[in-house]
Amino acid sequence: MFFELNETQRLVQQAARSYAQKTLAPIAAGIDREGRFPREQLLELAELGLMGVNVPEEYGGAAAGAVAYSLAMMEIAQGCASTSVAMAVNNMVAETIVRFGTEAQKRKYVPEITSGRFEAASYGLSEPQGGSDAAALRTTARKDGSGWVLNGSKQWITSGDRAGVIVVWARSGDAGSKGISCFLVEPGLPGLHVGKHEDKMGLRGSTTVSLAFDDVHLKGSALMGAPGEGFVIAMTALDGGRIGIASQAVGIGTAALDAAVRYARERQAFGQPIANYQAIRFMLADVATELDAARLLALRAAALKEAGHRFTREASMAKLFASEKANRASDIAVQVHGGYGYIDEFPAERHYRDARVTTIYEGTSEVQRLVIAREILKD
Ligand code: CAA
Repeated sequence: MFFELNETQRLVQQAARSYAQKTLAPIAAGIDREGRFPREQLLELAELGLMGVNVPEEYGGAAAGAVAYSLAMMEIAQGCASTSVAMAVNNMVAETIVRFGTEAQKRKYVPEITSGRFEAASYGLSEPQGGSDAAALRTTARKDGSGWVLNGSKQWITSGDRAGVIVVWARSGDAGSKGISCFLVEPGLPGLHVGKHEDKMGLRGSTTVSLAFDDVHLKGSALMGAPGEGFVIAMTALDGGRIGIASQAVGIGTAALDAAVRYARERQAFGQPIANYQAIRFMLADVATELDAARLLALRAAALKEAGHRFTREASMAKLFASEKANRASDIAVQVHGGYGYIDEFPAERHYRDARVTTIYEGTSEVQRLVIAREILKD
């Protein structure tokens, strides 16, 4: 077993790290405070090849693989979590279109995402009445001549107001997972309305909106995959997406640990730096160990994906563990800071807020446990 990165992976990691530390980290607090969408930064990430890390070159991607993507996501999330969530969804959507789209769909949308010409891309699965039970979705797709008509609503759509393309899942057939189809929807179509901008606890530089579909007419060419294949497309995308969120959680947790270490070295109590006290050392040691384990789980899932193996179970394990540990890391970072962890003069409270959603989106921790249990009980 080799733990060494190859040349490509090292280069991607270095490029992401350098950008994250030099450019993103110094402005992350401002992005959060002002709730500013990081358009310019996402464009720069695209120039670095980070909007399609695991996308073939012919569609504008970096073709660097799933491991390189995971490494890049860890670095970018460490610099600015808000920026990293838009990057995660863009990469997930680009990869999904490459995997399931027609040649025309790939050529039309993927280079727009990877180049940053599209401000963002969105993944429209969740609905107001349910996110975990994805197969129960109610948005409908009615056949209309050679095209389709969409009606319904979507909720929690990351970058939904900025997206050049939104992957939308809708019911075209019977109840259950087999009656769902998948569509590529462009913004500005008559009947497509962007609703409420959520005022979130964290990731405040990323936009999260609802979408309403009121007789939205789509051409037949908007269908991605076969009718009824939508649910499998959604789950396949989420398998990869969960590696992205596991990696994001590792990045946020690492930023929290770094902040705690910095503070513990500087802060004096009872005549010496608090880093000298075992109470603090044990906390830092636990966090560092847990984040390393999370990093390895994420990279294992990515390596399996890259090798063409099934990785559903491993992606869910990585997402479950990394998100829970990122929450613990950021909680401990606040504790190490004492009162200074509770105010925005220090980054600990931002990491705490940013980490919180990682156990919720792209499948809650409870959904991950469901997936893992099903997988281990299968055979
Ligand atoms: N890959 C391929 N196919 C899969 C699959 C996978 N990972 N998982 C399931 N399927 C297939 C199954 O094989 C099955 O097909 P067959 O009937 O032919 O065997 C079909 O899909 C139905 O599967 P299940 O019976 O397992 O489906 P279920 O209704 O019991 O649901 C679930 C399973 C895991 C709970 C799923 O609904 C789920 O993942 N829910 C959470 C949804 C989620 O993560 N949403 C996040 C929104 S996106 C987001 O947050 C992005 C963002 O903005 C940051």
